[in-house]
Amino acid sequence: MGIMRHDRSLLVTGLSLLVASAMACQSGMPAAEGTTAGSSGAMPPSAGPAVQAATMEQAGEYLTIVASCNDCHTQGWSEAKGKVAPADRFAGLNVGFRGEWGTVYGKNLRTVVQRQSEDHWVQVLTTADSGDGKPPMPWWNTALMSDRDLRAMYRYIKSLGPNPKGVPRNLKPGAEPTGPYVWVTPRTGS
Ligand code: HEC
Repeated sequence: MGIMRHDRSLLVTGLSLLVASAMACQSGMPAAEGTTAGSSGAMPPSAGPAVQAATMEQAGEYLTIVASCNDCHTQGWSEAKGKVAPADRFAGLNVGFRGEWGTVYGKNLRTVVQRQSEDHWVQVLTTADSGDGKPPMPWWNTALMSDRDLRAMYRYIKSLGPNPKGVPRNLKPGAEPTGPYVWVTPRTGS
């Protein structure tokens, strides 16, 4: 009984969202601030499992949070327990990840989406940057995300606009970082 009531209220919420978006289209209301204008925010169909939301940008924001993208690409995300304003997200991390591959940094994705097309973004995330991508970026997980989810994250990050914050350059194996870094390769205790 309780479950049925719950389902019903979800259905009602879903329906009122549909009605609200239909009304927004009819009245020619502008797209929400910070989202791509026009119908580009609408969700295209997905062959496999994918996140459903009112717009691609909303799906993208949700995905970046649950897929932990901010943890490595947003300065201060874990320290602030996720309370970082969207304007300050995805401008990169100045803490390096060091291993036998050298030291790599969570890139400024606000800059990346300005430079790269959406198709290129999908290609990078599904091929581990053509095999050049280093850990701990979870290339193996993004390779399994649906095409629609990958595009939703691109649209969300692009909707945040450019943010010119600089991130340190990757370092070759053996080079000593000048700033903060963590060792990612496991070490055995005594
Ligand atoms: C554990 C840390 C970590 C997590 C989690 C993470 N990244 Fe990364 N990401 C990195 C690092 C480090 C690099 C740089 C790797 C390199 O230089 O080879 C990177 C690189 C990238 C690149 C390539 C940028 C370029 O230069 O073209 C993209 C795109 C990207 N990440 C997107 C994402 C997305 C989307 C998510 C969430 C699904 C995510 N990352 C989660 C650490 C992370």
